[in-house]
Amino acid sequence: MVSGNLRDEDETDGENEVDNTSNLQMYRIHSIESTVVIRQLPSQGISFKLWLPATTLVTLLDNYRRDPINSPLTRTLSSFSSDGTDSPRLNIVEIGSGTGIVGIAAAAMLGANVTLTDLPNVIENLKFNADANARVVARFGGEVHVAPLRWGEAGDVEDLGRDVDLVLASDVVYHEHLYDPLLKTLRLMLLNRESKKRVFRMAHLKRWKKESIFFKKARKVFDVDVIHCDVPQEGFRIGVVVYRFVPKGHI
Ligand SMILES: C[S@@+](CC[C@H](N)C(=O)[O-])C[C@H]1O[C@@H](n2cnc3c(N)ncnc32)[C@H](O)[C@@H]1O
Repeated sequence: MVSGNLRDEDETDGENEVDNTSNLQMYRIHSIESTVVIRQLPSQGISFKLWLPATTLVTLLDNYRRDPINSPLTRTLSSFSSDGTDSPRLNIVEIGSGTGIVGIAAAAMLGANVTLTDLPNVIENLKFNADANARVVARFGGEVHVAPLRWGEAGDVEDLGRDVDLVLASDVVYHEHLYDPLLKTLRLMLLNRESKKRVFRMAHLKRWKKESIFFKKARKVFDVDVIHCDVPQEGFRIGVVVYRFVPKGHI
């Protein structure tokens, strides 16, 4: 399990400590007995803090690494090795990465080649976090790269190249004006690709009814399944839900 919730300094028990002066937070990832360090800059906006759905995805990956047979991620990940030697190395792109914790943790836990992406103004912090964790990621055969990817921009998807197996995201469905650009990017990344079957895994915390519009539009081109639901946190009616999007007809 990843102990990844934000806590005040005086609440820390020594395992996941918050450094309030530098906004650095350490996350213990139990399956690899390692710690990932993430810099948040909350005063700079939503792209610079870590959101609950991200910790859900990291926990699912951690559980997959410890118990693949009973993991909801098995169908996606079982054909790839975790050490990058026996099977082809998994190529992952994370979209709307924010702090990058999901992609960085995935690179370490799966020995994967991961590209973290977000808006251009977020890239500097993503690079900081990628560099801060490069050694732990390399120890498990992974690599982390960083690239700008603006949703709806075909050229940005083209620049990423074609070698993508899995697209990950957490907490990217919120503002209505972003639904269409996000869906365009997903279509460009997952459809119209020659040979490989590509899938999208998204962790989402429902906040507004209008989000059903995004899912209605998505279901026109993707088969969308729920693969995991968190128990709601105290004070919430709904927990984080993880979805699998597969191009229609590929299941
Ligand atoms: C709520 S944050 C989630 C961040 C991170 N995935 C997490 O769960 O902690 C949404 C992310 O989507 C990114 N985003 C918003 N609009 C975008 C766009 N048009 N193109 C690319 N990324 C965008 C933001 O910069 C931000 O990092």
